Amino acid sequence: MKVVVLTGAGISAESGVPTFRDADGLWEGYDPMQVATPEAFEADPALVQWFYDERRAALARVEPNAAHRALARLEESLGDDLLLVTQNVDDLHERGGSRRVLHMHGRLRAAWCTACDARHEWTGTLGDAPACSGCGVRALRPDIVWFGEMPYGMDDIHQALWEADLFVAIGTSGLVYPAAAFVHYAEAGGAETLELNLEASDGVGDFRRSRQGPATELVPAWVEELLAQP
Ligand code: OAD
Repeated sequence: MKVVVLTGAGISAESGVPTFRDADGLWEGYDPMQVATPEAFEADPALVQWFYDERRAALARVEPNAAHRALARLEESLGDDLLLVTQNVDDLHERGGSRRVLHMHGRLRAAWCTACDARHEWTGTLGDAPACSGCGVRALRPDIVWFGEMPYGMDDIHQALWEADLFVAIGTSGLVYPAAAFVHYAEAGGAETLELNLEASDGVGDFRRSRQGPATELVPAWVEELLAQP
């Protein structure tokens, strides 16, 4: 069975990473247009670097939860038949044991040199304008896909959705494209579709099935069910 799982901020919420659009979400108090666009970075690089430096530092204070770990168990069993796509820029899937994660919106723990195009693993800060270890130029930015930029891995994702038997969206409001359209690709390819979310999202009607509750309960239960199938 070929499975595509898409995760959003809701899967990391119980680890203590704020979601974007819930009442205490991350955009509260920040205008996304001031911190998450290439134009914002050009206008005020210090503010944008500070915003992501803070979030990168906060990662050290959180741990993966039972939902991340359950998806790692699923990978152990399905191997290449699972594509785990995340919109999250945290590294909790990896720390929960997943080995192959497609970060379509980039990663906090990566820096991208806009001078030589190199990518570097990054756990420190970027606000102090460190030099790229490849070319020496001080042109590193967070390797995060901002509004108006092209998400990573779209060809691979579309191919996997087309071939999938099952598409599951976990902890995402389904408001941000192109991820919000994945359910339609999966459906067009004949896949079963399932939403697992704290509450029914605005797009829940696009899924054939849905379950509501916290990810740390829903995801392990769903993985156990799937693995118990003959
Ligand atoms: P949102 O904040 O839009 O949605 C989070 C979803 O998780 C909501 O539907 C919540 O109901 C649900 N949720 C909250 N707590 C949960 C829990 N404990 N268990 C299960 N579900 C829970 O976050 P995303 O959909 O991930 O992009 O947002 C998509 C993109 O918008 C982000 O990747 C980000 C932002 O713009 C970039 O930064 C490029």
